[in-house]
Amino acid sequence: METVVIQSAKAAAELFKNHDVNFCDRKCIHVLTSHNYRDGSLAVGQFSPYWRMLRRLCSVEMMTNRRIDETTSIRRKCIDQMIRSIEDDVVAATARGESIVINLPKYLFLMAFNIVGNLMLSRDVLDSQTGSETTSAIIEWAMAELLRKPEVMKRVKEELHEVVGVNRLVEESDIEKLPYLQALFKETLRRDPDSWEDPLAFKPDRFLDSNIDYKGQNFELIPFGSGRRICVGMLLVQRVVLLGLASLINCFDWELDKDSTPETLDMKERIGVTVRKLVPLNVIPKRHPRIMAT
Ligand code: HEM
Repeated sequence: METVVIQSAKAAAELFKNHDVNFCDRKCIHVLTSHNYRDGSLAVGQFSPYWRMLRRLCSVEMMTNRRIDETTSIRRKCIDQMIRSIEDDVVAATARGESIVINLPKYLFLMAFNIVGNLMLSRDVLDSQTGSETTSAIIEWAMAELLRKPEVMKRVKEELHEVVGVNRLVEESDIEKLPYLQALFKETLRRDPDSWEDPLAFKPDRFLDSNIDYKGQNFELIPFGSGRRICVGMLLVQRVVLLGLASLINCFDWELDKDSTPETLDMKERIGVTVRKLVPLNVIPKRHPRIMAT
C-alpha cells in the first residue's frame, strides 16, 4: 500500500472531502496479520463489506449519545475510584507525616482502562488498550499545561466553582455549562502549527467565541481524524476526558513536585501508538476537605 502524508488543513480538506473512499485502508503492521487478526478488527481492518458492518454496529449500536448516556454510571464509578485512590494515598502519606508526590498517568491509565474495558464487548472489535492510552495521555497533557499556566488553572477552577461548587462531585450533565473547560479540551488537542496564531502558546480562549470543533468538519482541528474512518470512540472520549479532568481539578489543588516549576516542566514527547509525555507527570495533590468521592 502507498502512503500519503497530509500536512496542511487545506490538503486534509481536499483529501477527506474528495478522495476519502480511495484512502480508507490502513497500513497494517505485519504482526497484526497473524491468525487473521486484521480481518476482524475495526481499527486496522481493510475497507470491505465486513468492516462496514463492524463500523455500523459500533457507530449505531454502541457509540451514539443515547447509548453512551446509558453508561454514565460506569464512568462515574471509575472516575470516583480514581479520585478515591488518590485521596487514600494522600491521607496515608499525611498520616506518615510525608508530603505526597504521585505519578498521575498511572492513576489515569487505570481509570481509562477500566472504563473502556467495562464498556466494550470485545477487544477484537475495539482495541481497549489503545483507546485507554490515548484517553489518559490527553488528560495528562491537559494537566501538564494547566500546571504550566496557573492563570488558566485559576479560570477553570473558578468556572467549576461557580457551576458545581465544593459540596458535590462534577456530573456529566454539568459539562455543557462549562465552556471554558471545553475550550481547554480543544486547546489540548490542537497541534497544527500552520493553522493557528501563536501556535506554541496554550490559550483556551481562542476557542471561546469560535465554532471550530473536533468532529471532523474543521480541518485545522482533526485530532480524531475525519471521514469514514474518523475515531469511533470520539463521543466517549469527550465524556471521559471532560468528566475526569473536571473531577481532578475540582477535588484537589495541584502543585508540581519540587524538581519542576511552571517554566521548567519537561514537555518532551515520546512517540508510540500515541504521543505521550516522555517524562511522566509527577504532581502533588492537595485534598479539598469538603469534596469526597462516594
Ligand atoms: C483522546 C483520545 C483519542 C484520540 C485522540 C483518538 C484518535 C483517533 C484517530 C486520529 C483515529 C484515526 C482516524 C482516521 O483514520 O481518520 C482513531 C481511530 C479509532 N479510534 Fe480513536 N482516539 C481516541 C480514543 C479512542 C477510544 C477511547 C476508543 C475506543 C473506545 C477509540 C477507538 C478507535 C477506533 C476503533 C478507531 C478505528 C476506526 C476505524 O478505522 O474505522 N479511540 N482514533
